[in-house]
Amino acid sequence: MKTPSKNNFGKTHPWDLLLGFAAIILLLWAPAKCMPNQYEERIANGDTETKNTTAPPPVAANKAPVNSKGKALFRANCSSCHYASEKIGTGPGLKGVLGRIPGGEWKYNWVRNSAALTATGDAYSVQLKAKWNNAAMTAFPALSNEDIDAILEYADAGE
Ligand code: HEC
Repeated sequence: MKTPSKNNFGKTHPWDLLLGFAAIILLLWAPAKCMPNQYEERIANGDTETKNTTAPPPVAANKAPVNSKGKALFRANCSSCHYASEKIGTGPGLKGVLGRIPGGEWKYNWVRNSAALTATGDAYSVQLKAKWNNAAMTAFPALSNEDIDAILEYADAGE
């Protein structure tokens, strides 16, 4: 007896499945690809909130810590005449001072006794005193090299 020919209807061939999947993937992918990227658009329009979530700015990564010993010594001995900024007081503002004074022992000799250093004929000192109309700077013979380094490092960085 001949088996009744089966209706192919309802039977799914594996190729049909594959085609169906391909169609679904294309439908999902194509609009996403063509639509403007809202995220990038928000950033282009100056949405800083979105921007910040992408790349948080480094938190004071490059700022050197304040030299607290230098700060204390500066406040106790120098701040009556100097600012740790570019602001001029009785004497020059000391921000960036290490970049303009002579190197070596100069800073120690100056701070411990600027008048004595000037009396030796040291060119920078003579010029500085002339510029400041011979305004007197207190002598600090008790400050050590380490103290002076700490003070100047603090003041040079500025606040
Ligand atoms: C009584 C005021 C006075 C005090 C206190 C004082 N200075 Fe001065 N300082 C001056 C004056 C004024 C000048 C400018 C030159 C001059 O006339 O002596 C000067 C100049 C300087 C310079 C040279 C700056 C440059 O631009 O080249 C340095 C460095 C300096 N002082 C460091 C210090 C330090 C460090 C202290 C504290 C330990 C201090 N001074 C305390 C008045 C003072």
